[in-house]
Amino acid sequence: MEQAPVASATANAALLRPPRPRNGDHTRSWYHAHPVRAAYAVFRLIAGTLLTLEVCAACAPAAQGPLAGASDAWAKPAAARTAPPKPAQTWDAYAAALEWPALNGAPFIAHGHQPEQAVDVRVSADCRNAYRALVTDTVFPDGCVLAELAKSADGPGYGMRKLNGSWTYFQLGARGGVLAEGALSLCAGCHAQAPADDVFGLPREIVESR
Ligand code: HEC
Repeated sequence: MEQAPVASATANAALLRPPRPRNGDHTRSWYHAHPVRAAYAVFRLIAGTLLTLEVCAACAPAAQGPLAGASDAWAKPAAARTAPPKPAQTWDAYAAALEWPALNGAPFIAHGHQPEQAVDVRVSADCRNAYRALVTDTVFPDGCVLAELAKSADGPGYGMRKLNGSWTYFQLGARGGVLAEGALSLCAGCHAQAPADDVFGLPREIVESR
């Protein structure tokens, strides 16, 4: 088999010919001239790549989110910035509850909830008798609504509704706005200590004064 020529004749001639000295004192040896230039070329290539990478890193979009504490208001449309907070939804039983008679007669100061305030307790028609005559084994039927509402419309209110055998609690703000609702553990935890079916009933002095 014929050997492929290693290099062209001209290239061979160049390799064999010692480089011409440039200016006397700075003559580079024939042996070192090419490797030095080759090494410099490699160095330039690496430096060039690094520079490109750095420039690209600066241009690339930031991978992480905005800085903690930095405002992102600029990213939101003007309408979203100026929109007022959504008003609390009014409890669906609030209007009806205001029509129900206050079972306590004169308003009393409620000690169960903070802040202490003058309240009325109003109960849906189907459960009024059970509430008035509360005994330890009273069990309220599904659909019962109990409300302890501030005498002042601006005060907080409290509601309970029996559904599928358990109470849903409603924490109300001014004029029956719902602040929280559900099986609220804060409410349920304390009401679990009530005398009957998680219900406290009217204060003893009101019941006894009847
Ligand atoms: C620290 C105990 C406690 C917590 C917590 C509590 N309550 Fe009461 N709740 C009472 C007491 C005591 C009464 C009896 C009337 C009074 O003094 O306020 C009462 C009365 C009521 C009544 C009238 C029916 C009844 O039981 O006689 C409703 C309705 C009510 N609470 C709802 C709530 C809701 C809703 C929450 C949670 C947002 C809540 N309560 C949290 C103690 C508590």
